[in-house]
Amino acid sequence: MASAKKNDVISEAPPHSIKKFELISEYVKAWIQILMQNTKCKGIVYIDCMSNSGVYKTDKGEEIEGTPLRVSNIIAEAMQTYPYKQAYLYFNDWNDAKIDLLTTRLPKQTNNFHIYTEAMDANTMLRQIGNEIASNFKDMNFLLVYDPYDAHIEWDAVEPFLQNWGEVIINHMVSDTIRAAKVAKKPDVIKKYENTYKTPIDELIYVGSDRNAYEAIVEKIIRERSGRGDKYYVACFPFFNSNNAVVYNLIHCTGHYKGFELFKTTAWHTFGDKSSMKKSGSIDDPIQMRFDENGNFVFGEPADESCYNLRDAAQYVQEHFSGRSDVPNDEVWNYLGEHPVFPTRDYKNKIKDVLKRDFDMKASRSSMSFSDRSY
Ligand SMILES: C[S@@+](CC[C@H](N)C(=O)[O-])C[C@H]1O[C@@H](n2cnc3c(N)ncnc32)[C@H](O)[C@@H]1O
Repeated sequence: MASAKKNDVISEAPPHSIKKFELISEYVKAWIQILMQNTKCKGIVYIDCMSNSGVYKTDKGEEIEGTPLRVSNIIAEAMQTYPYKQAYLYFNDWNDAKIDLLTTRLPKQTNNFHIYTEAMDANTMLRQIGNEIASNFKDMNFLLVYDPYDAHIEWDAVEPFLQNWGEVIINHMVSDTIRAAKVAKKPDVIKKYENTYKTPIDELIYVGSDRNAYEAIVEKIIRERSGRGDKYYVACFPFFNSNNAVVYNLIHCTGHYKGFELFKTTAWHTFGDKSSMKKSGSIDDPIQMRFDENGNFVFGEPADESCYNLRDAAQYVQEHFSGRSDVPNDEVWNYLGEHPVFPTRDYKNKIKDVLKRDFDMKASRSSMSFSDRSY
């Protein structure tokens, strides 16, 4: 049962939610330009099946727009430049009052910019739209945002979107599972976790608080349901609260390499050239002392899988190509580009600079030569 706070039509958006609004809307801003310039694409379908009201307040009480308002304004503006393409936006939330407020704030519809709002169960809506994807939206690209308040994912409703040539962003509310799965007693709550992870509750209790294990289960389900296994791209970024604990992961799923690359780059831009907003150097995660190559004691930040920086990306490249000369640039970027978190688009020069500065890499116009030293 959702709490009163969750039912507030205008709720407070903590900093991690504001980052989420930024990441999704900045992604859409770049995504729509790529698609509109593609002659084969007739238009786009954007679905936010758990949209909320679009209106929040900050901790200072200032009003702030959520993802649906940001995205609809971005798409409305882009469509003015592309009158021969079409955009269809779907916003849904089972709370009527939230949809009522959202409706009053949405931009005006035009001949090529259409908005549908619903107040129903998101999964029921997806099952309806999912059945029509192939027939109704031929040559259109879609983006589905699946953003619940808890770890509740109905895979059969999401599956048609994973199998088609579109993209899906899923909020995996892993903090809910870590906190509540092991103590779940009510049959419907147990069923929720078992369905989300397609795993019996006894096994989930055994997984306990292992965030990486839950993430791995979800990624495996996504790959299986996409029908494309390892050829499907899955990027995953954790979102931290002010206590430095992970609240959720935003998972981007696509069969398009370009979309995968774009989402990773947008996330790194959003987090300020890092892969998350995690604060380093806390009591739980101290900045560590280590010896440098000259035997001097220095402060160093250990590579942290929850918050990579550009040096980590460079180190990942160095470790793979160590000792190799004249490696074609494309080979280096293709290798880095397959990584679920490290960015390439817009980041090649920055990563190249770190490779030269910290790893003694020598670059020519078309290739790179790597030192065989261990770092
Ligand atoms: C995390 S908020 C969505 C935030 C929104 N995507 C944004 O970025 O501004 C989750 C919303 O999903 C709604 N919700 C949760 N489960 C739902 C379901 N099964 N069907 C419809 N709405 C649902 C809740 O009422 C809530 O407003």
